[in-house]
Amino acid sequence: LRLFSGSANIQLSQEVARYLGMDLGPMIRKRFADGELYVQIQESIRGCDVYLIQPCCHPVNDNLMELLIMVDACRRASARQVTAVIPYYGYARADRKTAGRESITAKLVANLITEAGASRVLAMDLHSAQIQGYFDIPVDHVYSVPVLLEYLSTKQLSDIVVVSPDVGGVARARAFAKKLGDSPLAIIDKRRQAHNVAEVLNVVGDVKNKTAVLVDDMIDTAGTISEAARLLRKEGARQVYACATHAVFSPPAIERLSTGLFEEIIVTNTIPIPESDRFPQLKILSVA
Ligand code: R5P
Repeated sequence: LRLFSGSANIQLSQEVARYLGMDLGPMIRKRFADGELYVQIQESIRGCDVYLIQPCCHPVNDNLMELLIMVDACRRASARQVTAVIPYYGYARADRKTAGRESITAKLVANLITEAGASRVLAMDLHSAQIQGYFDIPVDHVYSVPVLLEYLSTKQLSDIVVVSPDVGGVARARAFAKKLGDSPLAIIDKRRQAHNVAEVLNVVGDVKNKTAVLVDDMIDTAGTISEAARLLRKEGARQVYACATHAVFSPPAIERLSTGLFEEIIVTNTIPIPESDRFPQLKILSVA
């Protein structure tokens, strides 16, 4: 078994390697003057079971391309099996056509990874479960829920209501609520006017005097989660926590999240968060 890291989240890869008691394999990564990427594996991997860790996070196109090049390099070096470990699967939100003449990028990315030569994929908290079916190779879909729940249990929260910030996240929030001692569920009726602009309208469910735990797969610009928190406060929630696996944190996420709306924002390290983007209410859990 050999483990290699792309450049997207070296710290997470190092933690995984430590956990497994292994070293990350040697690999050269270079960028040519015109921006093209170059990868070379620096040891023989002939006949090996190779795992490549690379979330497709910002800068998403570079990180995706680097993953494809790594997979291709391993295939051409006669690895027996190449598993693409993708803690954050970018381009996942376009998982169906919602208007004419659009692309389904989640499927396109699956095609690219498969075509590059991956034999298996290991992904965490895909935006939608059906993305597994976009691959004709095995997909292990793992969840951050155990890590989030373990942390939440240390907080000894009472009167919890789990809240889905939109209708699309109800199944995820329901599963979370079930695991959180069968907590009640509330749903935010969100209408989105344009990409990356969230508009929250209504809460379905009782949140008054409760500890609201918002659950989402990702926080991108934080429009969804901060509008949801504002509405929950308005509806009388006593405390508001947010849990999300992927801290995409595109601007102005940090400004929106550090306004005091939340007791705590709990995310994982599938995507690296620079020191400059950290603030007191942010808790980062490891999924290594
Ligand atoms: C939407 O379907 C997703 O689950 C997230 O709620 C959304 O992508 C978050 O985006 P933003 O933080 O920009 O509102």
